[in-house]
Amino acid sequence: MPDFVGAVDQGTTSTRFMIFDHEGAEVAKFQLEHEQILPRAGWVEHNPIEIWTRTAAVIQTTLQRAGLHDSDLAALGVTNQRETTVVWNPRTGRPYSNAIVWQDTRTDRIAAALEQDERGQVIRDRTGLRPDAYFSGGKIQWILENVPGVREAVDRGEAIFGNTDTWTVWNLTGGVNGGVHVTDVTNASRTMLMDLDTLDWDDELLSYFGIPRAMLPEIRPSSDPAGYGTTTRYGPFGGEVPITAILGDQQAATVGQVCFSPGEAKNTYGTGNFLLLNTGTDRVRSQSGLLTTVAYKFGDQPAVFALEGSIAVTGSAVQWLRDQLHVITSAAQSETLARQVADSGGMYFVPAFSGLFAPYWRADARGAIVGLSRYNNDAHLARATLEAICYQSRDVVEAMQRDSGVVLDVLRVDGGVTANDLCMQLQSDILGVPVSRPVVAETTALGAAYAAGLAVGYWQDTDELRAHWAESRRWNPTWNEERREKAYAGWKKAVTKAFDWTT
Ligand code: G3P
Repeated sequence: MPDFVGAVDQGTTSTRFMIFDHEGAEVAKFQLEHEQILPRAGWVEHNPIEIWTRTAAVIQTTLQRAGLHDSDLAALGVTNQRETTVVWNPRTGRPYSNAIVWQDTRTDRIAAALEQDERGQVIRDRTGLRPDAYFSGGKIQWILENVPGVREAVDRGEAIFGNTDTWTVWNLTGGVNGGVHVTDVTNASRTMLMDLDTLDWDDELLSYFGIPRAMLPEIRPSSDPAGYGTTTRYGPFGGEVPITAILGDQQAATVGQVCFSPGEAKNTYGTGNFLLLNTGTDRVRSQSGLLTTVAYKFGDQPAVFALEGSIAVTGSAVQWLRDQLHVITSAAQSETLARQVADSGGMYFVPAFSGLFAPYWRADARGAIVGLSRYNNDAHLARATLEAICYQSRDVVEAMQRDSGVVLDVLRVDGGVTANDLCMQLQSDILGVPVSRPVVAETTALGAAYAAGLAVGYWQDTDELRAHWAESRRWNPTWNEERREKAYAGWKKAVTKAFDWTT
């Protein structure tokens, strides 16, 4: 058996390739950002060709720097930004349009129309989701209706759909020369098109969006000994590595944080924040604005489900300070700037750029900065941005506790923003529970590697993976109850000011 396992993490802002060893330790990694295309208010696009060329580049660079080859890898896992939608021609390999990103709100009206009759309830019951522009179904419909020639191309077998997992695997397995058109249950559970009972595409749901089944990928387990194909001699690996895992990035992080038992949860701080609670083989229905989603399915074992609190804008609010407002020049500087002040000076920032997701689900919300006086400055804004990340997480933790009865005694965190020490301290203060970060903060890639390695027997079982988890850092609350509740009450009031900005 080769010594290592690889993982491609195709994320919202960047793509990375990572190599792990038997202890789950990072051996090598490299990542590249891709362009965020913002053609109009509310629209967010990526160029799928750029994503694929960067994926190939990060794989080649990582292997080169580590002095490793395809033959050193026992298996490859692929994880990805979920919901982002690509439609392409399998004969030419050319996409018909830019990818429509999960944050894009152009399909608000499609989602709102589904709420006008009983279709909204059918979607809730069957998919565990709620009609929203966030999910892939409406995005595929938009491409079919608005990009010239796509509908006819589907009839000729010349237009197929995939999220970026499918796009990546299709390219890795040969592209126009026999690429495999496949996805896994976790990604499929984010489309509004898959029935959580059958784990298959549902014809009635497809009819709501006018989507022909023929353009959809085959749905497979998240970790599959049979594999989804191998990489090719002509691709970035220069040889054949079996691809044996596909998981959406939040589900992969759940696996990377070894949340294998019901009641275990993790919160990932990336472009957005995503809190997932393992509910075992039970599908728990949320009464509090959370989603029911597939956490993972390993081989022929039953699917494991999760309750999810999805927050659209957290790390990307810090990016906004950097790229649009230019108040900082790097994400790390948000911490230095915010540390110049002891609090946000009465100011709250609700970064509802894509509406508000869980637990509010207000497509009509837009960003709001409230409570300003002349006293406020850029340091207060930086601090309010970090606090907004933490208040939004408290919103979903509270919803999760209401739905599940599970009271968190510690919050397991991961993702890029967890490098921000002040933000993690604020999270603990705002929640009133300790926050714990593992040694490997790249749990998304690690989870994809774990799922791929389990499939080929590189790791024996989940107990072996559990033994790898170790804490690197813990933050304990320092605020008293009065300060915590007063600050949170202010946030709840600020959120209401973000509502009702679109018609
Ligand atoms: O649902 C969207 C989510 O998968 C995006 O994650 O880490 O790319 O922001 P991330």
